[in-house]
Amino acid sequence: MKSLRYINKYFKKYKWRFLLGILFTVISNYFGVQMPAFFSESIDRFQSNLSLQTKTDYLYLALELGGIYMGFSLLKGFFLFLMRQTIIVMSRFIEYDLKNEIYNKYQVLDQSFYKKNATGDLMNRISEDVGLVRMYAGPGIMYTINLVVSFILIVTKMVSISPSLTFYVLIPLPIMSILIYKVSSTMNKMSLEVQKEQSFLSTLAQESFSGIRIIKAYQREQQVADKVSESAERYKKQSMRLVLVNAFFSPTIIFLIGLSSMIAIYYGGLLTFEKKMTVGGIVAFIMYVTNLTWPFASLGWISSIIQRAAASQQRINEFLQTKPKIKDDQTLTPLLEQGIVFEHVGFQYENAEQPVLHDISFSVKPGETLAIVGQTGSGKSTICSLVARHFDPSSGCINIGEQDLRLLSLSQYRNEIALVPQDVFLFSDTIANNLKFGSENAEQLKLEELRAVCKSAHVLHNIEEFEHGFDTILGERGVNLSGGQKQRISIARALLRNPKLLVLDDCLSAVDTETEEIILQELQNFSKNRATIIVSHRISTIRNATKIIVLVAGRITEAGSHTELLSQKGAYFDMYQLQLQQELEAKNTLS
Ligand SMILES: Nc1ncnc2c1ncn2[C@@H]1O[C@H](COP(=O)(O)OP(=O)(O)O)[C@@H](O)[C@H]1O
Ligand SMILES: [Mg+2]
Repeated sequence: MKSLRYINKYFKKYKWRFLLGILFTVISNYFGVQMPAFFSESIDRFQSNLSLQTKTDYLYLALELGGIYMGFSLLKGFFLFLMRQTIIVMSRFIEYDLKNEIYNKYQVLDQSFYKKNATGDLMNRISEDVGLVRMYAGPGIMYTINLVVSFILIVTKMVSISPSLTFYVLIPLPIMSILIYKVSSTMNKMSLEVQKEQSFLSTLAQESFSGIRIIKAYQREQQVADKVSESAERYKKQSMRLVLVNAFFSPTIIFLIGLSSMIAIYYGGLLTFEKKMTVGGIVAFIMYVTNLTWPFASLGWISSIIQRAAASQQRINEFLQTKPKIKDDQTLTPLLEQGIVFEHVGFQYENAEQPVLHDISFSVKPGETLAIVGQTGSGKSTICSLVARHFDPSSGCINIGEQDLRLLSLSQYRNEIALVPQDVFLFSDTIANNLKFGSENAEQLKLEELRAVCKSAHVLHNIEEFEHGFDTILGERGVNLSGGQKQRISIARALLRNPKLLVLDDCLSAVDTETEEIILQELQNFSKNRATIIVSHRISTIRNATKIIVLVAGRITEAGSHTELLSQKGAYFDMYQLQLQQELEAKNTLS
């Protein structure tokens, strides 16, 4: 319950709407209470009015009373409408604000947060959990106010007619609340299970669609189908149980209302007999009891809603209270003209047992290219992440010129660099928008500029072959590019940013050696005034670099230019020999 206090700030923000909502609830209930009272008076008038003699007299009276009754209904309905328009609309506003707050928080949090939390969880926080909190802020609050107001108004009226009858008639109502609370919480538990099974089922289905090629190639159709039908069977069983419990809901309520009405008729009848009450009074009582039913029924429902909302808000709060380790709270401008320097950098991932980098030192200045070679898992991508400041080093430091990177403005720094990651990501959007994505001045970019960078990344001819050129839509509903084409587009995207420091993390792996040669040539022209860090496991990619470092299990074992390293006849030399041989073999088999 405490966790829900967090959204009180939103109730404050929308306090006028909220207060108006309460006012409308009171007014609507006021008219609601007048109706049974008026109805009972009408009955008594029909019974006892001696001046009614002809049919027309009755007709006029009926029209008069009916008209007034309808007037009350309309007024009650109108204010009920306003009540929903204020409180439910307020809850939608709160939902909107809360979603934005969570999303903005997501944007601030760093990579280590995303490594720790599954995408599904992040999605659930912002959709399902916020949805449950909204149920509390809207319907939950609205029905609570409605319950309190209607209870006070109705019970006052009832007591004014007959205190003792009021007492007897109200006895079944708390029982109903408790029963409904029990039924609701059982249903909530069951529907959670149903939801879980449902999401398992849809993940299963989704995976079997995206993996259909593998499934067919390995002839695993039957196994997958069995798995799906098992899950569907469980889903069906759980749903049926839910339906069963659900089916008890209305009969229970109707039974208890019936009980109250019976008490009203029996005991009220006795009172009428003793001339302590009129027939109209009994009718009014039955109507009041019916009117009290829904608020009381909602009591059980409200408490289970509040419980679920509190649990959801608790999870949301945990996210909102997470502090990003890498903050953009410095103002000093990074002077990338002075180059980037790694000084004895060591790094260990948060959840890992061992450090992945040890004592890494190097420097790159504008105009220079630093190449990193090493086997898979040697820590190349980790170095790139450190350069992009997705993480901070565990030991040692990274400097821009003389300044520690941690003391410089993060946003300004990120603005000056471009990282082409190993696993390319393109949005389901046009090629042009994907290219412009990383650029501040995206709107002013001309087609000529897009063409120029695509030419450098050697992907322009591919784009021009598409019917819609730069307006070709990529992704699931658009064109599927080959791995190499995607890599080249993401290189072009980085070049378009015109960065002072360009980091290419093994991003030519899916490109053939000849194309690679062309791109590297182009990049050399591009790299004249900027620092470049290029990662590869292929020596052909990097041999023209100013400096090469060889990484083995997170340590630099050799460093120097291509010729220097060859003359050392160490690991680099062996790697070179091996790759030359493989290339030769490949050529021989082709020819
Ligand atoms: N987020 C992470 N958490 C824990 N360990 C990681 C993480 N990312 C990478 N590693 C580990 O760090 C080592 C270096 O990985 P990486 O830098 O990706 O190597 P490379 O790019 O050279 O293939 C590997 O052993 C890998 O398993
Ligand atoms: Mg890598």
